[in-house]
Amino acid sequence: MSATDFEHSVRITAQRLYRRCGDASPSLQRGLQGALLRRVATDDALRGGLFQFIDTLPQLADDRAIAEHLQAALKDVHAGLVGMLLRFAARPLFGGAVRWQCRRLARQFLAEESAAGIEATLATLSQAGCSATVDAVGEAVLSEAEADAYLARNLQLLEWLAPLQPRPHLSLKLTALTPRFDPLDAAGTRRRVFARLAPLVQAAAERGATLTLDMEQYELKSLILQLFLDALVAFPDPRWQPAIALQAYLPETGSDIDALLSAAERHGRRLGVRLVKGAYWDQEQAWAAQRGWPVPTLCSKSATDAHYEALTARLLAATDRLQPAIASHNLRSQAVALSHAAAHALKPEQWEMQMLQGMAEPLRQTLVAEGAPLRVYVPTGDLEIGIAYLIRRLLENTAGSSVLRQTWLGEMDMATLIAAPVASDPATPTATSPTLPLLDFSRPEEAQRFAAALGATRAQLKPADETPGLWLARNPARPNEVLGAVPLDTPDQAIAALEQAHAAQAEWAARGFGARAAILRRAADLLASRRRELAALQVLEVAKPWREADADVAEAVDFLRYYATQAEAMDGWHTTINFPGEENRVAYGPRGTAVVIAPWNFPLAILAGMSSAALVTGNAAVMKPALPALLVARAWREVLLEAGAPAALCPLLAGEAEVGAALVAHPQTDLIAFTGSRAVGQRILQIAHTPVPGQRHVKQVICEMGGKNAIVVDADADLDEAVAGIVASAFGYSGQKCSACSRVIAHAAIHDRLAQRLAEAAAALAWGPPEDPAWDHGPLISQAAQRKAIDYIAIGSNEARLLWQGNIPNERANGGWYVAPTIFVDVQPQHRIAREEIFGPVLAILRAPDFASALAIAQDSDYGLTGGVYSRLPEHLALAEAGYGVGNLYLNKKITGARVGIQPFGGRAWSGTGVQAGGSEYLKQFVWSRCVSVNTMRHGFIPAKGGGS
Ligand code: FDA
Repeated sequence: MSATDFEHSVRITAQRLYRRCGDASPSLQRGLQGALLRRVATDDALRGGLFQFIDTLPQLADDRAIAEHLQAALKDVHAGLVGMLLRFAARPLFGGAVRWQCRRLARQFLAEESAAGIEATLATLSQAGCSATVDAVGEAVLSEAEADAYLARNLQLLEWLAPLQPRPHLSLKLTALTPRFDPLDAAGTRRRVFARLAPLVQAAAERGATLTLDMEQYELKSLILQLFLDALVAFPDPRWQPAIALQAYLPETGSDIDALLSAAERHGRRLGVRLVKGAYWDQEQAWAAQRGWPVPTLCSKSATDAHYEALTARLLAATDRLQPAIASHNLRSQAVALSHAAAHALKPEQWEMQMLQGMAEPLRQTLVAEGAPLRVYVPTGDLEIGIAYLIRRLLENTAGSSVLRQTWLGEMDMATLIAAPVASDPATPTATSPTLPLLDFSRPEEAQRFAAALGATRAQLKPADETPGLWLARNPARPNEVLGAVPLDTPDQAIAALEQAHAAQAEWAARGFGARAAILRRAADLLASRRRELAALQVLEVAKPWREADADVAEAVDFLRYYATQAEAMDGWHTTINFPGEENRVAYGPRGTAVVIAPWNFPLAILAGMSSAALVTGNAAVMKPALPALLVARAWREVLLEAGAPAALCPLLAGEAEVGAALVAHPQTDLIAFTGSRAVGQRILQIAHTPVPGQRHVKQVICEMGGKNAIVVDADADLDEAVAGIVASAFGYSGQKCSACSRVIAHAAIHDRLAQRLAEAAAALAWGPPEDPAWDHGPLISQAAQRKAIDYIAIGSNEARLLWQGNIPNERANGGWYVAPTIFVDVQPQHRIAREEIFGPVLAILRAPDFASALAIAQDSDYGLTGGVYSRLPEHLALAEAGYGVGNLYLNKKITGARVGIQPFGGRAWSGTGVQAGGSEYLKQFVWSRCVSVNTMRHGFIPAKGGGS
């Protein structure tokens, strides 16, 4: 059939379907509920507010909380129907009524997860001529226990389905079979997933069942597809039917179909393919923008629809090797499927259509009446865990671009609805990230490149023997492995280097901001070009996991580029206010010689950030990095010199505390930029502020110190998000970040559940040598750090109650400086583990009776660096925003990972001096400003144009 003839047949079919659907409206849109949903569909504020409320509902304990949240969610939409709703909100029994109504709403999309519930739903569907696939809807799986529960639910579902369906049909999410689904650890993920998939496949095989793998976000797509292909090999039993969902909004889905076709040939079995458009379109756009990664999806709805039609054609032409399921509620998309099926004279058992429970029922009925084989996707679960699912469906039903809304709100006439979609996609916007995008380790080739960089870096390292006067760099995961040796400097050598740097500074200052900024940019490009090698070095020298090591290099690049831009803006004279006859202007000059004392935990970013800030503003930068990160520091200096910085201007000194002290005390030192512990910071302040002979100035001290950072978790918090955010903040890089979370202040209402989920989620992480990405976290930096953390665990065991402690198997620990991750509960605000910085994987959980007390406990600290709040009540978030006195406050997100120029970073109190790195004020600390005021009046004559810039 020609393309024109085919299009003609599609139109005829679509018109027929449209007419047969008639005026029927989906059950969702009938009655009072329908009226409300129609209002919701056309009012964005109401839509946002209502969905936000429903999202919180399962967590709300009583009527008062329900009324409070509803009022907060709808406070900007007080008209008509909504006003009435709010007036009722104060009445008794209101909470119960709201809950009942939402359950009813949810039940239209979700079947009750019980033998009786499923039987009833399937019977109704069967009467309507539809078969079913059942899906256990759940919360995010963050622990082994939750993954076990998911498996158990699926096994149970199969058992319930067996007597109801000749060939039971389940849909499942592979990510719910393990809490550690990580493309970077593909082999480990496969092992974990297959361990739980095996009994499920066995049960499916015994019942001749189909298992369809749902497709999830793009980052996981390649791994999900690969696991599907691997499962064909691992579970060859022909009695189960494997199937997978593919998304038409991804341009590359055609080649995924090719892979499935060849797999089908290889294995000599038909494979199920469910074609969907893709449910994560909005998130994919947001994630790509936030990360600076290319947008993976098509960007116009019409292009997705056109691609969907093209893929439908391919699938329905390949029923010898595939069992296609065309899953859409779109009348035109399904008309295309029907036409292809007719053209190929497909029998009902060779293919099917699929739709979601509760959606587009008139079209469903019409298609069934046309003789199409139609399966309904029936999610099961209770309201509490199905809420995210419910919100997605409601959003879909009311979204502007959705065919559901357009069809049933009559927003589009028939001609437009059934018109052929246009295949062309607007050019995918190129990512314009203000920071260097991180490496995408979900791509197997990226993981391979990084593994190769690790090998190459290790091959270049020069092991050495213990010799007096040499610092031996050791791998913290295997302390016997010496990575290199660096000669240690004495205080006298350090002073000589400082004096040379001082002498070189005038020439550097004379170069001007522009020339110096150009050198920073060159250094940034050099770092970026060596990013894998430099990150690999961090993995070996400071035991950073791959992603964190890459993030550190990227942050260093960001600092250089950001400060280059800031410095250029500082160049020249800046007019303040001129008057007739008077000009006033300001210029910035370097302070002179800066001593830069940097820590090992962000070995490149912080050293490069502080030293480049000093250099770009015209100072000399005498660098004294922490000993455990000397190799990375050496690499940074190489880059600086290659970029054009004079060698004498930026010496790198390797030394113990007395070297730092000698540099700080020297009379030619004008400025100290320090990041590190509070104890060392206080000592530096003391030395720097004690004048010495020959000193003719006040020394500027920029001091960034530690934190005792807290995350407050409110009664209504989304616990899935809170648990994931706390675990990442507390245990990322084994807690060795000044921004790390070391206290959780939990509202009493959720305290026990949160503590339990935190312990389970932490237990799901694996600790081992970071050069193997199979492990989430590695050892501490040194034996001293290990001892200190172990001492604090002993203190905590006396003061509070040990809730959970991980273990690190000896053979994996291999003598490395590991500390078992530990969580304490029943911690009181005055306990030492609630007040002192530990710098290790130790988390203290405190209980608070209400949100205000929780916030007060969080603030009762000597430190003020980072803080977090998980709450869904806007008033509580506003309270935190107004009054939580930390330098970096994170609302409903993890509290580590600030980005240069986006989240300027630094704290107050004993955390720091309050001017944030990577922020617009930072460079001002490295200069002094001069103001010139000129009288331009000459005996009553004012020149037409004054000076100034
Ligand atoms: P409609 O024709 O209204 O299409 C809406 C879709 O168009 C959006 O979902 C999006 O994919 C796309 N779109 C919207 N705006 C766009 C834009 N500006 N640019 C590009 N594309 C745009 N999803 C998934 O990801 N994994 C899965 O496993 C499943 N499973 C599943 C099973 C069953 C039985 C069904 C019916 C659906 C799914 N889905 C899914 C959901 C599916 O991907 C899709 O979101 C909905 O079915 C909506 O698509 P329709 O064709 O029904 O409506």
